[in-house]
Amino acid sequence: MSLLDSALVRLLPAVPKPVVQLFSSRYIAGATLSDAVWCVRDLNTAGAMGTIDVLGEEITREEEARAIAQAYRDVFASIDEAALDSNVSVKLTGLGLGLSYDLCRENLLYVVGVAAGYGNFVRIDMEDASTTDDTLRLYRELREEGHDNLGVVLQSRLRRTVDDVEALADLRPSVRLCKGIYLEPGTIAFTDYEAIRANFVRCLDALLDAGCYVGVATHDEWLIGESLARISQRGLAPLEYELQMLLGVREERRDELVAEGHRLRVYVPFGEHWYSYSVRRLQENPAMAGTIARATAGRVLHLGSR
Ligand code: FDA
Repeated sequence: MSLLDSALVRLLPAVPKPVVQLFSSRYIAGATLSDAVWCVRDLNTAGAMGTIDVLGEEITREEEARAIAQAYRDVFASIDEAALDSNVSVKLTGLGLGLSYDLCRENLLYVVGVAAGYGNFVRIDMEDASTTDDTLRLYRELREEGHDNLGVVLQSRLRRTVDDVEALADLRPSVRLCKGIYLEPGTIAFTDYEAIRANFVRCLDALLDAGCYVGVATHDEWLIGESLARISQRGLAPLEYELQMLLGVREERRDELVAEGHRLRVYVPFGEHWYSYSVRRLQENPAMAGTIARATAGRVLHLGSR
């Protein structure tokens, strides 16, 4: 990333929302559940699976958190009706974690209960480091109560993650392993690109050694190669792991991996609360973010000079 691009990426939050929406549309299925259903249907036709996310995070009102939980009921009903190959992903701050642990627990239990009724599965996304302890605590509590249709996410960016793998091992968790999108301070996180990669491989080894089902969530070609080599060394069958990618990212590579016989799941977000998710995705794509920020800056300067 050029210095100019990285400076422009930081300016992204100042870009007008309609411009962000225009450039981020590739990452989001649309505003409605039927947009998500059509998107997953296309993915299924192309041989990939889905995980549907109702957009919404950092919710500040109880009714909103309950509405997101209710929205998942409709998602499961639609998945069932359209016979889609898809589970769901949830953000705990969307279910009210920022308001109260108990409210979030209640909402999560509701979603997991509905999922169980449909024989489906819920993956808890991992958010910033202020939520890690509560997320893992809630995950353990529900698993110990017998809710086995529940998985979690671990981030190789965090220094604690190898210890978290060890601490969770008795549950034989289903884990999505990713680098982690939230930039955390060096005291708790690796900040160097290669160190994050190295920790990803270390955590993957620990998860596979513990007999966990892993969703390897990365578009990083080097990590895809390292992960597939480890999976193959252990002789895992196609049903014993999966690869995961984000909607709108490296779609050609996705199709190749599917053609090679790997099960691959695509993260499909939809809904009205698209803004925070979009900014994160654009910040991961500096060339695009730079283009947008430059275009906007040009427009502002142009207006100013009139
Ligand atoms: P890296 O960022 O190095 O990207 C590798 C290459 O992929 C880039 O060089 C580029 O070609 C391409 N690429 C990556 N992102 C792109 C983008 N936005 N636009 C265009 N090209 C892009 N994080 C988290 O903290 N909690 C979570 O719960 C999840 N959940 C999750 C689910 C799934 C299915 C995926 C794939 C990812 C997540 N993440 C996440 C995000 C993850 O932590 C990470 O930020 C991104 O996947 C980018 O990291 P990569 O491993 O792809 O490497």
